[in-house]
Amino acid sequence: AARPRVFSGIQPTAGSFQLGNYLGALRNWISLQETHDAFYCVVDLHSITIAKDPEELRANTRNAAAQLLALGIDPERSTLFVQSHVAEHAQLSWVLECLTGFGEASRMTQFKDKSSRQDDEHVSVGLFTYPALMAADILLYGTDVVPVGEDQRQHLELSRTLAQRFNSRFGSTFVVPEAHIPQDTARIFDLQDPTSKMSKSIPSGVVEFMEDPKRTAKKVRSAVTDNERDIRYDPENKPGVSNLLVIYSGMTGRSVAELETAYEGSGYGDLKKDLGAVLVDFLTPFQQRVAEYLDDPAELDKILRRGAERARAVASRTLREAYDRVGF
Ligand code: ADP
Ligand code: NA
Repeated sequence: AARPRVFSGIQPTAGSFQLGNYLGALRNWISLQETHDAFYCVVDLHSITIAKDPEELRANTRNAAAQLLALGIDPERSTLFVQSHVAEHAQLSWVLECLTGFGEASRMTQFKDKSSRQDDEHVSVGLFTYPALMAADILLYGTDVVPVGEDQRQHLELSRTLAQRFNSRFGSTFVVPEAHIPQDTARIFDLQDPTSKMSKSIPSGVVEFMEDPKRTAKKVRSAVTDNERDIRYDPENKPGVSNLLVIYSGMTGRSVAELETAYEGSGYGDLKKDLGAVLVDFLTPFQQRVAEYLDDPAELDKILRRGAERARAVASRTLREAYDRVGF
């Protein structure tokens, strides 16, 4: 039997991915390659919903692709590509926008959050229609499952609604995708403020994958913990130590319970020193692999061109069928 198809996308963020992206999403992308037919996309179209400098966007997109490859996305097994290389995404998006109610799009909490932080002249229509483009991303590939975090659940629900709406109005065309709440993910908190999610918008306690690993070790050494001494997983009362245990577990595959036992009687300093070393051992060869991809632009271009060709072969068939049904 054919493997179920999975689709996931990530925006090309400036500089580098952070530890939360890895343990919360990308590590799962890598393991899904074993069981699924995976389509992974650097979603540069989505990233211009907020204005971006062209040269930075171009560099960040290549940088993101190099990091995905260096983390273990295998371009022979999975289809890794850049969204803007496959025009069908924008072409299907228009049709889906026309099937989306204005009120329906207005209820998207991410739009409400992001738009409330800016004045109306700076909120683009693209930010508003973003979920229709995301639906196009998913539906073009006959996607069975989409790994989603809590933050994207509402958007995925809209993708399902749009697939069903199209199918009932024009005839069965799209696979209705299922949300997949991944096993292999964790929510990672800021090292300096372990009650808020690690995010690049809070620069102090974020482990950036392309930063000097020595800096990473230092950030771990100065992570906020508490005034007790015991190394115990208790996110309510010991958010800092619990976060370190979750990160440690995610990076090594050792369970949190196993780590608690191993560190019985040890101090926070030991835990931090060892976790710092784990991250240094991970980041050093990772950064070398990223540099190899970035130092060989022709090879990276070739990989992304092949990925786009494979993606387009699927996407163009779906688009042709959808356009036929619509009357184009
Ligand atoms: P977000 O706007 O949610 O921070 P990003 O583009 O930064 O999204 O992250 C991309 C992916 O990484 C998403 O799947 C998101 O859920 C995940 N992610 C980001 N930060 C964290 C975190 N601190 N813990 C777990 N997952 C995270
Ligand atoms: Na973010």
